[in-house]
Amino acid sequence: MTHKVALLPGDGIGPEVMNVAVKLMHHIAGKFDVALETSEHPIGGASYDLHNNPLTDETLQACYDSDAVLLGAVGGYKWENLEHHLKPEAALLKLRKSLGLYANIRPAKVYPEFLDSSSLKNEIIEGTDFVVFRELTGGIYFGEPRGIDSEKGWNTMVYSTEEVERITRKAFEAAMHRGKKVTSVDKANVLEVSQFWRNVVERVSKEYPEVKLNHMYVDNAAMQVVRDPRQFDVVVTSNLFGDIISDIAGMITGSLGMLPSASLGEKYALYEPVHGSAPDIAGQNKANPIAMILSVAMMFEYSFKMNKAASLTEEAVGRVLKNGYRTIDINSVDGKLVSTSDFAELVLHQFDEVYNEQALGVFTL
Ligand code: IPM
Ligand code: MN
Repeated sequence: MTHKVALLPGDGIGPEVMNVAVKLMHHIAGKFDVALETSEHPIGGASYDLHNNPLTDETLQACYDSDAVLLGAVGGYKWENLEHHLKPEAALLKLRKSLGLYANIRPAKVYPEFLDSSSLKNEIIEGTDFVVFRELTGGIYFGEPRGIDSEKGWNTMVYSTEEVERITRKAFEAAMHRGKKVTSVDKANVLEVSQFWRNVVERVSKEYPEVKLNHMYVDNAAMQVVRDPRQFDVVVTSNLFGDIISDIAGMITGSLGMLPSASLGEKYALYEPVHGSAPDIAGQNKANPIAMILSVAMMFEYSFKMNKAASLTEEAVGRVLKNGYRTIDINSVDGKLVSTSDFAELVLHQFDEVYNEQALGVFTL
């Protein structure tokens, strides 16, 4: 079987984490007799430098022609003062909207090896395992009217029934396979759009009687994530609130460099690390490739239904960490510091080990 994957390395550390993850991706797919046909396309600042446009029609078409899109990161100081629509970030937003990627899935899971790297206490974060379902193509990011003049700036937070229903269903379906608990995060005490969100979530929840639903105001949710993160299983929320909550959730795991994400729509899927382009360490082979590698694992799971490949990849990453290897972003006193490419090599090696173990029945998923 062959799948087409469009690679958009982007800016900063994007290309270097992409390179090592793609090498690993081909290796793993090969083990399962799956061929991946890849093509590479510029996006963000890299595309602006070449074409004066952060997202060209060619790049967009390549995404439409793909079975999955893998993205590195976009942005950097160099492009910060460009007009709004020429900024690297605008490319990402346009891509999400054009591909209809309304469901952004961001897992927040603590690796036991990382308990000491988080800024939070061990006993608070130990065993944390939740996932944020962030609405990605609506809300205040895209609402009209929007604008800026010399007197004021304005944006509109708006949600339709359909927009809330579809992300809510995704969240509840995920919860059915997890802890059967959904927390919907809103600001219904102040915003009508949130009251509406809450009504729709309530209605959809009736289709899933086994799943327990609770509602939380976003300010309280931000506090609860750091106070007692284990209380969460699936969090469903709007575009802006999800942006904020998922960064907070990221810190629980010790480093944003660990967190993968999937953005899914009806037809297309995009996988990208939650972290940014980290221009300060770009080009130095220092960046943490875990988020990118785990994004590939999510691609195996969600786009290609290769669940075993996904779980073995996660296990391999866990074993490399257990063996004490770390990239520079992870605060650790006794870790063995390695480069981006060495870390990925170690994951590849551990993948082969765990693959063989499961073939022999020594390791079971
Ligand atoms: C994210 C990022 C983006 C967002 C930016 C870069 C547009 O922060 O993916 O979380 O706000 O969605
Ligand atoms: Mn963000």
